Amino acid sequence: EKGGHDYFMLKEIAEQPKAVADTLLGRLTPQGRLRLDEMRLSHDELREIDKIVIIACGSAFYAGLTAKYAIEHWTRIPCEVELSSEFRYRDPILNRATLVIAISQSGETMDTLMALRHAREQRARVLAICNTNGSTIPRESDAVLYTHAGPEVGVAATKTFLTQVVACYLIGLYLAQVRESKFGDEVAAEVDQLDRMPAAVRAVLGTMADIRALARELATAKSVLFIGRHVGYPVALEGALKLKELAYMHAEAFAAGELKHGPIALIEEGLPVVVVVPPRGRDVLHDKIVSNVQEIRARGARTIVLAEEGDESVVPWADTLIRLPRVPTLLQPLVATVPLQIFACELAMARGNDVDQPRNLAKSVTVE
Ligand code: BG6
Repeated sequence: EKGGHDYFMLKEIAEQPKAVADTLLGRLTPQGRLRLDEMRLSHDELREIDKIVIIACGSAFYAGLTAKYAIEHWTRIPCEVELSSEFRYRDPILNRATLVIAISQSGETMDTLMALRHAREQRARVLAICNTNGSTIPRESDAVLYTHAGPEVGVAATKTFLTQVVACYLIGLYLAQVRESKFGDEVAAEVDQLDRMPAAVRAVLGTMADIRALARELATAKSVLFIGRHVGYPVALEGALKLKELAYMHAEAFAAGELKHGPIALIEEGLPVVVVVPPRGRDVLHDKIVSNVQEIRARGARTIVLAEEGDESVVPWADTLIRLPRVPTLLQPLVATVPLQIFACELAMARGNDVDQPRNLAKSVTVE
């Protein structure tokens, strides 16, 4: 049942290329258009939307934070991302022109369910992204886009996180297509890139020996920091969450630009810091992050750097260098998250933890 793996989580990490491919299956046309037959919202309704609010908990929340960058870029519709448990208690401003996207693997998370009920009471349209057919959240939503990750047994989300990001991207590109946004013409190119992601995820899975060895070395570390910028920031957050959930270690993520506004004071000799470096190309952020790596290294941090193939700029400052396949910036989270899942899983195993059933956690939390 675990397909030769010691834990379901390891099997589910390995299944990610297929999970991503299955979530794309039947939704991309050879003409580079998207077909989302499940989007029961009419084109007129989709054209009316003037605000998107993503609600979710845990890893699904980080999938939403990742998606915000892509959705706003492609659609030019303002997109907020909020924890389900905070959402309704601040009396959010919602109306018919608000599209609320509720992301939930299980479809049963009570915080998200209550948030979506509140949104519907305010007459917002609710679209669910869910991995569990016929569960409560999709049943109570106006429409649903299923992730096709297959059942996920490990409590910590892995393949469902990746497919939630993919589903959000499909929605973003679909909105751009329907609304003929300024970006509309480029949808075909993005669809083509998305289609290459299963192979990219497979490639990154093939190069995980170094991160496994490193995790075993760091099994007694007190704390690990994660930094990233742009979509690399939610990747850092997800990496830190995985480490807390599985290894029961203190882990914290920061937007790299914030380092100088406080967290850099935490850097001391030997502190492991994981850095998600954006692709080079036209990305001005790349050079800023490389400076951050230099700064923290100069203060004694043990740097664990995730950077794309061929990026030599980080080599002098990386104590450990993890290579990522070359993909467009917005798609980098789909490859950059994978080594962080393995890092957390391996560290947890080195510490003797049950990675499928971490203490105090449940796969789906049906109380508020
Ligand atoms: C937590 C799980 O309780 O709920 C996380 O441990 C998950 O892995 C989060 O990300 C949200 O769950 P769901 O089912 O709403 O995506």
